Amino acid sequence: MEQKHGGNIENIAEKYNIHKENIIDFSVNINFVGPPPDVYSRLKNELESITRYPEVDSKTLKKKLANKYGFEKDNYIIGNGAVELIYILVKVLKPKQSLVYAPTFSEYEKALRTVYSQINYHYLKRGNKFKLDIEELKADLTDEIDLFFLCNPNNPTGDFISKEEVKQILKHNEKHNIFTIIDEAFVDFLDRNISAISLLKKYDKIFILRSLTKFFAIPGLRLGFGIGKQGIIDKMNGFKDPWNVNILAQKAGEIILNQDEYIKLTKKAIYKEKLFLYQELKKIEKIEVYYPNANYIFIDLKNSGYNSTAVYEKLAKKGILIRNCRNYRGLDDNYIRIAVKSREDNKKLLNRLKSFLIINN
Ligand SMILES: Cc1ncc(COP(=O)(O)O)c(C=O)c1O
Repeated sequence: MEQKHGGNIENIAEKYNIHKENIIDFSVNINFVGPPPDVYSRLKNELESITRYPEVDSKTLKKKLANKYGFEKDNYIIGNGAVELIYILVKVLKPKQSLVYAPTFSEYEKALRTVYSQINYHYLKRGNKFKLDIEELKADLTDEIDLFFLCNPNNPTGDFISKEEVKQILKHNEKHNIFTIIDEAFVDFLDRNISAISLLKKYDKIFILRSLTKFFAIPGLRLGFGIGKQGIIDKMNGFKDPWNVNILAQKAGEIILNQDEYIKLTKKAIYKEKLFLYQELKKIEKIEVYYPNANYIFIDLKNSGYNSTAVYEKLAKKGILIRNCRNYRGLDDNYIRIAVKSREDNKKLLNRLKSFLIINN
């Protein structure tokens, strides 16, 4: 079966006989700066805690999140990655009919299939740079729909909508009795605050999903959280295992919430690198480069003379892994996505890309 996500280093290592350590992975959108240094040093001292069970329902972390983002601790739920919460949510909500747009993160659709929801699709248009058109979207958010997933900013395009536009959707959805899940997995990377967390005060049928694995670079530990009305959180707790988050991930969560300086420095470093990569990629004629609002760049190869698989293979052979976007619903083999990495890694990618894209032009 074709892998639905990036990060398949093992496959490439085996296929091209390259050492895993020598592969540069642009296919997953993880903060290239790495986790806050405190996470490494303090988790090393916590290793012996693995002989204990984790705290049930991650209560300490919930309290800390409530202090940081507002609301009560009982409005929070902690997940083994944000993805776990998507699967729990659909089990609780059991939507007869749902709406997802395309392209977007594929796990919404996969989770909806586990509860036999009838999935309706709202296709974003290439001609509109895959942007959400709120009026067109509303036309598909009809009384028949029970659940809608909003990915803000969207993966893989990096496009986002403003808080005002989110409000318009929520207003519409409340009128039509549609529950809205807002996935803000990449919101921390943005240079402005578009989070819908404050809208929880005003709207009932919403749930905000946050990942801590991207910005804080701990995908292997798995950690995410969600905020919602207490009613939905109580139901979700009934559907999850009490020790769903391991003890080291809980500890990491508590550490990363006090990292204001790291957050500031990291944002600056990512901004500098994404601008460099974006501007250099723009110099390659015949590819269309989408502005990276978050930490990844979406590229349309249509006029380049290469499809996404050809570009993927050419890079993979040299130990550079990118996300071939051909298996995203709503896309074809004209699109790739690359994460923003360090200057050294970005230059290697650029040199390799230019070596065939520019000569071919
Ligand atoms: C939009 C989006 N939401 C959620 C996730 C999953 O995040 P986590 O690692 O916290 O499960 C991803 C991972 O790629 C994602 O792209």
